[in-house]
Amino acid sequence: MKHLLAIEGLTRDEATALLDDAAHFSHLLAGRVVRKLPTLRGRTVVTLFYENSTRTRVSFEIAGKWMSADVINVSASSSSTAKGESLRDTALTLRAAGADVIVVRHPASGAAQRIAQWTAEPGGGGPSVVNAGDGTHEHPTQALLDALTLRERLGALEGKRVGIVGDLLHSRVARSGARLFALLGMEVVLVAPPTLIPAGFEGGGIRVSSRLDDELGGLDAVMALRLQAERMNGGFFPSLREYSTLYGLSPKRLDQLKEEAVVMHPGPMNRGVEISDAAADSERSTVLQQVRNGVHVRMAVLYRLLAGAPSLPASEAVPSPAAKEAVHQ
Ligand code: NCD
Repeated sequence: MKHLLAIEGLTRDEATALLDDAAHFSHLLAGRVVRKLPTLRGRTVVTLFYENSTRTRVSFEIAGKWMSADVINVSASSSSTAKGESLRDTALTLRAAGADVIVVRHPASGAAQRIAQWTAEPGGGGPSVVNAGDGTHEHPTQALLDALTLRERLGALEGKRVGIVGDLLHSRVARSGARLFALLGMEVVLVAPPTLIPAGFEGGGIRVSSRLDDELGGLDAVMALRLQAERMNGGFFPSLREYSTLYGLSPKRLDQLKEEAVVMHPGPMNRGVEISDAAADSERSTVLQQVRNGVHVRMAVLYRLLAGAPSLPASEAVPSPAAKEAVHQ
């Protein structure tokens, strides 16, 4: 695997192998005081963020550092972008400076793909590119960490039903998540006001609904999405209050869920809009487990791109000799 630009194009086996590796890293590091593997020593990861981020940027940085990579964070506001440099020139500069991986978040859909094209060298050289969210297009590592969380909480995913509720039109999390969950055999229900449902989403295990209350009782997991106000130009629904009344995960809606169903949110949460305090802080909530899994999933992705191994050993209980050596060095 040279790049991770989207869930689209990933096979079920590739996705499952990444989830297995992430689970393996989680197991390997559990309970350790010193969380440092030498796996990526001497490799350089640059995070290039043109949009605000807390969990995605931090978890890529922690993932790289726990594997001993050198991690450098660049944000648009403090880079030469503020002086008018183009995205292409910035990407070529990072390649020239020695980046092995460029993790990019950008408001334009397709930005990660473009960087991968611009920085490619003949013979397959050039840095690997990871899409950490491009406009309204995709956010593949978010989908992977969500799938890992679902697997931990629900067991086998085949046939389980997940509802993704909210601003589907502007959500790269929904786009990547729906694709991956369906790829892994889940039933996906996308729930939103008709104005926030993008065209062409249905089919292949994915269906669309505008009536949250009709769906809640059949779900094994429900994921609330933030209203992406920064990507809206107004007029998608009458008022925040009405949106919240019809689509917010209120305490009453929490009671309509099956006993073992979980509540997810990719963060950042707007409490009181798409999710109530009761839902965000309940036993069902996976919000912080998702963040923790984000580190392990990003370790698995960096490992796959840089160490090039097909997969870590399947056994989670007994680390491979290589992994053992990695820990004890
Ligand atoms: C999301 C994003 O930036 O796409 N957040 C995240 O990465 N956890 C969702 C959002 O901003 O609402």
